[in-house]
Amino acid sequence: MFKELKTETTKGINLLKELNNLLPTISTDTYDEDLIQNIQSLFIKYKDDLHLSLDISLYESFFELSNGFKEKEMIIYFIEILRKLKRTWLVKDFRKLKVWYKIHLDGGGTTYSNVFNRLIREQFPNRTFFKTLEWCSGPGFIGFNLLANNLTQYIRLTDLNSEATDCAKRTIRENQLENRAEVYWGDNLNGIPKDEKFDLVVASPPWAYEINNDVNAMISSDVKWKLHEAFYTQIRSYLFPGAIVCLSCFEPFEKKPEVSFQKEPWDNRPEEPILIFKKMIEKGGLVLRNICKPEYSHEAHMGYGVYFIFCEYTGH
Ligand SMILES: C[S@@+](CC[C@H](N)C(=O)[O-])C[C@H]1O[C@@H](n2cnc3c(N)ncnc32)[C@H](O)[C@@H]1O
Repeated sequence: MFKELKTETTKGINLLKELNNLLPTISTDTYDEDLIQNIQSLFIKYKDDLHLSLDISLYESFFELSNGFKEKEMIIYFIEILRKLKRTWLVKDFRKLKVWYKIHLDGGGTTYSNVFNRLIREQFPNRTFFKTLEWCSGPGFIGFNLLANNLTQYIRLTDLNSEATDCAKRTIRENQLENRAEVYWGDNLNGIPKDEKFDLVVASPPWAYEINNDVNAMISSDVKWKLHEAFYTQIRSYLFPGAIVCLSCFEPFEKKPEVSFQKEPWDNRPEEPILIFKKMIEKGGLVLRNICKPEYSHEAHMGYGVYFIFCEYTGH
């Protein structure tokens, strides 16, 4: 569970002031290693005072800290800092592969793409996948991590947010992955050429039916599960027989999932999502194989409450 925040106002404001001063006002196209290290040192300096678990990713640290912004002065700093951070190029390393992204495009993949890797390795120990699709990919953390660890030979990414697909294009270019990776911009599966076929599909799609407290609708909201519905209807035509589909889902057995940082539930669902998804899976010609919830891990802190739903397309 997210740690309860006990941000003392003065210390919180001091941290925000220092962070605001650190950030440059104009953006550059390069990754500023010193800047990121300075931000990390700043968070570490305040870590004990603020009772936060800040040694993970910048997004998680900032997200977690922002839940404690109760004072007007803090909110003003938050908005200003976020505005500057959004222009800052960040890099996530998966072995030798450097994934380019910006803070507001990280939907948690910086940390829990490792969980995808681990589960896929555990469940299919003797299998190297041929071609993987990361659906709703954002900058492509999950797909690039699979590629970096040789769990798949080729990857394709697709997302509706062109800022995210531009990041993925940069990652492909700068890591010279043109022969192994490609990114398609488009709504749901519509940007993918019809002749593409996959033996693995992974995704961390938007997880909320009707969210309370929406920070970024494109990351979180799948209103009335329309995105999931269209995905399960169409995905079969892109699959080889024997293909695996692994999607994450936030609290699939809860109608009103709770989070520690707000009183009301985080989402309002008409029934437990798993009941709806099971019908979609069956209608789409897939077979539900496994639902698992990995052990809590500090490294994948943001993924608390996230389950992984594995399906197979048998070809029949
Ligand atoms: C939870 S985020 C996951 C991003 C990334 N995989 C990660 O883990 O950081 C969900 C992603 O779904 C994308 N998305 C939302 N609606 C979409 C749509 N209609 N078609 C394609 N992608 C969509 C968002 O742009 C966002 O990148």
